[in-house]
Amino acid sequence: MQDRGEDLKSKLEIAKQAAFQAGRYVREALGRVEHFSTKSSVTDLVTEVDRQSEALIKKLLRENFPEDRILGEEGGIEEPGRGGKEGQRPDLWIIDPLDGTTNFVQGLPFFSISVALQRGGDIVLGVVYDPNRHEIFYAHRNFGCWLNDKPIRVSEQNTLQESLVCTGFPYNLSPEEETLLNIQDVAPRVRDLRALGSAALELAYVACGRLTGYWEWRLSPWDVAAGKLLVEEAGGCVTTCQGEPFSLSSPSILATNGRIHSELVRLLSRR
Ligand code: IPD
Ligand code: CA
Ligand code: CA
Ligand code: CA
Repeated sequence: MQDRGEDLKSKLEIAKQAAFQAGRYVREALGRVEHFSTKSSVTDLVTEVDRQSEALIKKLLRENFPEDRILGEEGGIEEPGRGGKEGQRPDLWIIDPLDGTTNFVQGLPFFSISVALQRGGDIVLGVVYDPNRHEIFYAHRNFGCWLNDKPIRVSEQNTLQESLVCTGFPYNLSPEEETLLNIQDVAPRVRDLRALGSAALELAYVACGRLTGYWEWRLSPWDVAAGKLLVEEAGGCVTTCQGEPFSLSSPSILATNGRIHSELVRLLSRR
């Protein structure tokens, strides 16, 4: 029988395969989608491609790991089909089948597929796949972070002034939104600011040093589960915007290379 460390290696391989399959499907549909519907607000879009991508990932995970639970953005939680191990909490897959739906609908090739595995309360595997650049970012708890099989690290900038920082906007944006107030405080103090539109990929970009830091409010577990592990395993730091320990139910996330973390916490906590 496989021990629980060995079985993570095979789970990582299947998670990568699932992200590749779903990514290929989403990439091929880019520019061909004519219909979308809305969810929580008029700006919160969903397409048939989101749903089909989730179905593809769930099918592969279910075939290989029938005893696991699966949480997907579009379909909610699926309980194990069979064979849960006695006395052991089942592993939970957390998937975002298309992170960056607005970009996708607009034909803007910046989106990703995110697959994470939670075991006993910790994220232990994370995969973020960018099908437009064929870049797969992945991490295995305590074994580092990788981009297309090369190890990656966060950036080395020491000050905000030399940092490229990123954020994102929640779907129900109010004029008093923390994000907007934060931007007033952060934008004048950094090299530049971005909002690229895929939380999972933005976290992967912090992990590989393309971005120095990233914060966002009111995300969901599937947006951040994989990316959080990528950043940590690449040597970065992940907390809430107030600098408190981050959990998947936290109201905000701040991920940086570690070196600019306390400076950003100070700015983001002003409001
Ligand atoms: C969204 C993206 C976006 C972020 C939104 C998320 P979705 O996810 O990650 O960057 O700003 O808050 O909901 O809906 O495209 O999977
Ligand atoms: Ca969505
Ligand atoms: Ca998402
Ligand atoms: Ca999504």
